[in-house]
Amino acid sequence: MAPTGSGFDPLAGAFMPAGLDFTPPPMISDPLVESAALLGEMGAVGEEMWIDVIRKMDNVYADLIASQVALEERNAALEQARTFLGSVLGAISDVLIVCDAQGTVEQVNPALVGLVGQDEKAIVGTAILSLFAEPHRADILETLGVLRRGETVVGREWAALAADGSDAALSVHCSARHDAGGRFAGMVLVGRPIGELQRAYRELDAAHQRLRQTQQQLLTTEKMAALGRLVAGVAHELNNPISFVFGNMYALKRYGAAITEYLSAIDAGRSPAEIAALRDRLKIDRVLADIGPLVDGTLEGAERVRDIVQDLRRFSANQREPLESCNLVRLVHTAADWVVKALREAPEVRFDLPERMEIVSRKGQLHQILVNLVQNAADALKTREEGARITITARQEGDWAILSVADNGPGVSRGHQDKIFEPFFTTKPIGAGTGLGLYVSYTMAAKLGGSLDYADAPGGGAMFTLRLPVAGEEEVQP
Ligand SMILES: Nc1ncnc2c1ncn2[C@@H]1O[C@H](COP(=O)(O)OP(=O)(O)O)[C@@H](O)[C@H]1O
Ligand SMILES: [Mg+2]
Repeated sequence: MAPTGSGFDPLAGAFMPAGLDFTPPPMISDPLVESAALLGEMGAVGEEMWIDVIRKMDNVYADLIASQVALEERNAALEQARTFLGSVLGAISDVLIVCDAQGTVEQVNPALVGLVGQDEKAIVGTAILSLFAEPHRADILETLGVLRRGETVVGREWAALAADGSDAALSVHCSARHDAGGRFAGMVLVGRPIGELQRAYRELDAAHQRLRQTQQQLLTTEKMAALGRLVAGVAHELNNPISFVFGNMYALKRYGAAITEYLSAIDAGRSPAEIAALRDRLKIDRVLADIGPLVDGTLEGAERVRDIVQDLRRFSANQREPLESCNLVRLVHTAADWVVKALREAPEVRFDLPERMEIVSRKGQLHQILVNLVQNAADALKTREEGARITITARQEGDWAILSVADNGPGVSRGHQDKIFEPFFTTKPIGAGTGLGLYVSYTMAAKLGGSLDYADAPGGGAMFTLRLPVAGEEEVQP
């Protein structure tokens, strides 16, 4: 009986896996039948001895089959490992060459085969030097020596001889290979085609450029959005002085007419009684007393307009404005006024500020930081029905000006506190927030040599603290 099927053969006493093409030796093809025949021939003499022999042969046979099964299993595992390795080597776009200690090629991957345009069989067994251009061969030989001494070789540039006869520059890394006894057995060379690297670099560069452009556009968007929000406030700010300049000018025009009429009466030689009556009717005394304050008020209004326009220009100015001495207190008032005036429902703004606070800084940037902080506080207070309040305090501590903008809104939740300074982090609906205000403010504060931090406000709500060097030191560039 030939054990070609799968299952347990009680006679053979061994498990037979399916698909094994195995033909047992004829003498033990059916052990019990044969042994019975043998016993018949030889009689009872040495019967036990024969049974013993047959058993032993049986055992040997079973062992043989077990070894065969194990061997098949190992073969399958080996084949799997070989396929796996082959697919990995095939998937690598870098070229790979394995050579022995004398520089004879032992294995290469499909990328190398493709590059040099020769069959793998033709390459294996040749000298590794033959794969490279003449000027680099000495270096490759030297590398084998270096590796033998236990050093590593990275970042070399060698040109392989490509299929079309041209040189294909490779950025090469070489490492030593050791045998089971730990002896130097050759090297593994991995090379990345430099053309490929350059292309990848160009793509990266282009992507980087696009990213920078987008970032720049977004920063501009944030600035435009902030500016847009402010325009309403500024319009209101301008409206005040302009309307009283107008009012004053109309009054002056009227006064001018009265004075002209009065002087004409004098020139016409009217009687003193008539002139006195006219002076009374035209309220010449009040007109004369009013002219001074009217002109002063008009001038003040015009100056206010000029200041607002200057602030606006500074706000939209380029970031490279010079360091200059400025009064932080006035900047705080202007920034807060701009934001608050633009709001439909303005919160109460409390100022706890000294009379003046001179610091050396960049006004436009400071103004932008302050506007951002006050605007955020005002946004946070929108949900509060009543008692909404922003508190702005400033004090000097040694060489530092410390300014805080606090509100009694909901504050920043624990989970968001480490994210608010990240670009694009916003909890506001689309269109209402860009998530760049705090990022820009944080970066500007650092560039001005200071810092911007968040803390919960003492009575609940948010508190942002801006620290700036009074003397305007620049950020230390790493
Ligand atoms: N005063 C504040 N109170 C509560 N949350 C605030 C306050 N200021 C900032 N935040 C939070 O930080 C986020 C980021 O602010 P910001 O960078 O100015 O972007 P944006 O105002 O466009 O959302 C806001 O969306 C908000 O969640
Ligand atoms: Mg904001």
